[in-house]
Parts: sequence; structure tokens; C-alpha cells
Amino acid sequence: METSHEQCYRVRVPAKVNLALCVGGLADDGYHPLGTVFHAIGLYDDVIARPAPAGVTEISVTGEGVEDVPTDERNLAWKAARLLAETHGHGDLGVRLTIRKQVPVAGGMAGGSADAAAALLACSMLWDLDTGPDELHELAAQLGSDVPFALVGGNAIGRGRGDELVPLLSRGTYHWVLALAHGGLSTPAVYRRFDELGGEHSTDIPDEVLNALAVGDVRALADAMRNDLQPAALDLRPELAETLEVGRSRGALGGIVSGSGPSCAFLAASESDAMDLASALSRLPQVRATRRASGPVPGAKPIG
Ligand code: C5P
Repeated sequence: METSHEQCYRVRVPAKVNLALCVGGLADDGYHPLGTVFHAIGLYDDVIARPAPAGVTEISVTGEGVEDVPTDERNLAWKAARLLAETHGHGDLGVRLTIRKQVPVAGGMAGGSADAAAALLACSMLWDLDTGPDELHELAAQLGSDVPFALVGGNAIGRGRGDELVPLLSRGTYHWVLALAHGGLSTPAVYRRFDELGGEHSTDIPDEVLNALAVGDVRALADAMRNDLQPAALDLRPELAETLEVGRSRGALGGIVSGSGPSCAFLAASESDAMDLASALSRLPQVRATRRASGPVPGAKPIG
């Protein structure tokens, strides 16, 4: 039974978009080498950790897409809690996790990875474990390719599976409109279709993306954004092509499928342009909802 005096540790964690997602050919380990530029945006999940008796792991989920989120050991936040406890030699440490979702589920915005990153931090505080940044990164990388970035946020280059990070300084604030689709896309399925489509592969991040970020040139960034998974996502969900076209024709400076999709991310020149764009996109039948967010924002952080 909960009491109002119960300890409770709350962590807020952002979604990401990939400003560049340059994908190499399938490697022997079943993954694709990446050169990517992550950008954290102000669309958040909150993960709350509360005490539970030894041996108990419980997850409850509220908000965006709850019906599609497992509340057992398939949930990446569950895996994060168990991995942290086992690593510290206390496999039976108990926790009750509550996840408040705003980040779309299976939307290409790393929502599940974000929850895992937040669960690592929240459980570390709840159990009073001394978990340094290097250890957190190491555990995060074991949980998934996008989890380490959710810890740091901001902008970062990701190499390897996306887990080898180098922070990137940037100028300016970027205004985004997200067009959320009905249903999600499975990341492995999108990578499989990428393999089937074939073609030349390169993990070279375009200099134009890095230069645009360095000087804060939003138009140059919009022109330079690149997502090698986009053809595969469009092949699986052809209606996304129209979403991208309408976004561009209704004032977006540029638009791409976010990560493995199906969310589409549009860069707007200003907050007021973003509002007009969101209202135009929300009239499309294939658009379930729109969100506005700006970036970059910091990674997972404890909140009061
Ligand atoms: O690392 P994560 O569990 O998030 O990846 C989910 C799936 O996406 C992998 O099992 C793999 O099929 C695919 N993937 C990939 N190459 C990457 C990252 C993910 O093929 N760099």
C-alpha cells in the first residue's frame, strides 16, 4: 500500500530525432554500422521509481499509446532495472516503476530507449547505488543502441551501433513539428527492408549537417538532413510520402522520417510557422496527431 511519505524518484527523459542517419551494410553481429547525428527534443516521458518488496518488479504505464506498451519483462525499463540490480550484486532489489508517456510508441523517436535510460537513473537513486556516468553508459549500451544518447541528450554524433557518442555543440534552437502516424513500425523490420532494397551504403555523415549545426543555420540544416532508412520506411508505409510532401508544401523548411519511422519530423523557421504547419498536417487522415517541440534539450534528469 502506498503512503504519501513513500520515497519516490522521478526522472524526465526526452525523445530524439536523427538529423542524419547514415547506415552501412549489415554486419556479422546482425547490426548495421551507423554514422548518425542525434538531436534531443522537448517531448518527454517521465519514469517514477518507488520502493517495492525484494523480488518485486512492477511497471504501470499511462499516457500516449499505453495499450501497446508491455508491462512485464519485455519492457525495456524493466530490463534496465533488473540489469542495474544484477550488476550491483543485488538481483532481488524491488521497484515499482510508473512510466508517463508522451513520446510515441514504436514511432522512431526512441521512446522505449528513453524509458530504459530514465529507469537506470531512477532505480540508481532509489536503491542508493553509486552508479557513475561511465557505468551508466555501459549498461545503457547493453540495453539498446539508442539508450546511451537518452542519458546525455543535446546533440551528439553516434557511431558503431549508435552507442559510441561524441557530444556536438550547436547554436540556436530548432523548432520541430512531429506528425505521428497510426500504429508503429518495428525497427528490425525497417532495417530488414533497408537490406532488401540494397544499393550503396555509407556511414559518412554529411559535412553540411555538422556545419549547419555549428553555425545555427536552420535552412542549411533543413536542406542537409538525411535518413537512409527513409526509403525502407516509405516502402512499408507509402502514405508517409504524402505526409512529407504536404509538410514541405505547407511551410516546413525540410522534413524527414524520424529514425525508423513512422513519425515524420519537420523543421520550421519559427514557433508560429510550426503552429501553422501542425494545423495543416493534423488535417491529413494518415496523421494521428501532431506535436510541437524544440531542441536541443538535455538528456535524462531527476525532477522534483
Ligand atoms: O539496439 P536495439 O535493440 O535498439 O536495436 C533493435 C534492432 O534494430 C536490432 O535488433 C537490429 O535488428 C536493428 N538495428 C540494426 N543496426 C543498428 C541498430 C539497430 O540493425 N545500428
